[in-house]
Amino acid sequence: MTSASAFGKIILFGEHAVVYGRPAIAVPVTQVRATATIAATKDARVWIDATDLARRYALDEAGVDDPLAKIIWLTCMQFSVEPSNFSVQIHSTIPVARGLGSGAAVSVALARALAKHFNRTLSGVEASALAYEVEKLHHGTPSGIDNTVVAFEEPVYFVKGKPVETFRIARTFMLAIADTGIAAPTKIAVGDVRRAWEVERARFETLFDEIGEIARKARNSIERGEISSLGSLMLKNQALLQEIGVSSEEIERLVDSAIGAGAEGAKLSGAGRGGNVIALVDEETWEEVTHAMKRAGAVRVIVTEIR
Ligand code: PMV
Repeated sequence: MTSASAFGKIILFGEHAVVYGRPAIAVPVTQVRATATIAATKDARVWIDATDLARRYALDEAGVDDPLAKIIWLTCMQFSVEPSNFSVQIHSTIPVARGLGSGAAVSVALARALAKHFNRTLSGVEASALAYEVEKLHHGTPSGIDNTVVAFEEPVYFVKGKPVETFRIARTFMLAIADTGIAAPTKIAVGDVRRAWEVERARFETLFDEIGEIARKARNSIERGEISSLGSLMLKNQALLQEIGVSSEEIERLVDSAIGAGAEGAKLSGAGRGGNVIALVDEETWEEVTHAMKRAGAVRVIVTEIR
């Protein structure tokens, strides 16, 4: 039996604008992970056991849009092997459709587990490229940031179509990641932004430029350990996300409650409309901020150290 895991992720800055070529920053979230286990079987048919979804089905019966089947086919093709005589079990602690990279993490965990099973090596670039193909099922036109940060397991400064740049966090900082409880499909928010951009290109290009500039500044601050400047950058980024139409009442309420309870900054993370709000906290503020965000409607708050 072989097993492999992949961590979740969170986007710190630059979501949406990243689809239009601007830089974005994402980091791994090591508290949550997807794990894939491969067992050799006598049965030639490949069985997929999606434990959390209480689903068990055969690979050859899965639809073309089944993400688990797709990553198995793609990885086996990459290794030039016919998928047979193994079963796959997937288990994940990453909440689904909440901007925590659950889709990418499941794909990367499965590709890694298959690599182990077939005694092959799989580089970060390869795992990322395989997972990207599956991301297209979830996202439509994904920028590729999710699969990249999940496969590299390091903070990434991501620009679509450019070689991956990982970077160093000079000083550990803390984030409270609050779940609005609203599952908001990335595909829909990305599609709405595209339609709005088509109508008002010049305005949206300017907004995307401003978001890109914030991501650049944030990277500098993080690399220099100047964490205190991140708070205001988060709030500026949030205001721009509001302008492009991806915030929501629930998100605003969580942002306001975090700031009211002492967070230095807060913003939505990921596609918006629902999903997560991230708040910059520290040893002194995290408890208060967590309670405040729960009172303001968060269904779950994960406090994590970004290092
Ligand atoms: O919902 P998430 O965390 O997978 O993030 C989507 C990020 C977008 O920039 C909105 C889309 C993308 O493909 O980068």
